[in-house]
Amino acid sequence: MMQYLRLIPAKFGLINKAAFHLQIKRINPDDTFILSYPKSGNTWVRFIISYMIKGTDQTITFDDLETIVPEAYRSQDFIDSQKSNRFIKTHDLFFDDYPYIIYIYRDYRDVLVSLYHFQMAWNIFTGSFAQFIRHGLKNLHNHGTWQDHIKGALACKEKNPGKILMVSYEKLLDDFYTEALKIAQFCHLDIDNIDFDMVEQKTSFDEIKENENENGSRFMRKTKQNFAREGKAGVWKDVFTKDDLDYLYQDQEIVGLLKKLNYPLVQEKTVVI
Ligand code: A3P
Repeated sequence: MMQYLRLIPAKFGLINKAAFHLQIKRINPDDTFILSYPKSGNTWVRFIISYMIKGTDQTITFDDLETIVPEAYRSQDFIDSQKSNRFIKTHDLFFDDYPYIIYIYRDYRDVLVSLYHFQMAWNIFTGSFAQFIRHGLKNLHNHGTWQDHIKGALACKEKNPGKILMVSYEKLLDDFYTEALKIAQFCHLDIDNIDFDMVEQKTSFDEIKENENENGSRFMRKTKQNFAREGKAGVWKDVFTKDDLDYLYQDQEIVGLLKKLNYPLVQEKTVVI
């Protein structure tokens, strides 16, 4: 009921439509949204920002993330109670309404592999990977498609480069310091007081998995599996059959966006000497 009552001010522009949709009271001019298509590395970036803000002489748990970089769908009251410098995790595409955006992207083929395991763990989908990529994606459409995400982020970057930082999951794996420094600078954090080596160590895949094993996570409590599943780039090459790839590449928009983001389309063959 309250939600419908809030529709009235939203309709007249008194609260912003993204705030209405996310069920928070308002979006502040200094808010930073941590935005991604699901399974693109959002949680990893939330840990990175959290350790950069809170320091590395402690362990930040999955549950702690909800009070440092809270999720828009679950921690609305907490978000509303914070007055400034908020970091908010979301998957929803309101590029124009978000003041600042850290946009995380990942090779769509690896996203699909990760999403498949995620949905299987939650029992949202049961079946083979081949069936998933053909029939399993309709559950996610309230977040838009991967294509909607990437097109929106690229358009936002072109229109207003200062408000969005594009973070690639693969670059973060490859050159943590360079990418983490960009995140810190974008967030106006005091980089002289950040120990980037320690942040890298504390947020490494192995450390996050151990952290989850020791302290738990909502995902683990519900599914008895690790949220920190594999944490690699290029795993799609071992999962997609030729038929699966042919199916995916029928969508020329996906092909175009993969190319635009510099993800090679073909599986590089291992040269045996
Ligand atoms: P995999 O399922 O491929 O392992 P999101 O947080 O956006 O849902 O993304 C989840 C993906 O990020 C999962 O991918 C997860 O394992 C991976 N991930 C989480 N923490 C990570 C870390 N510290 N380093 C690398 N990948 C990480």
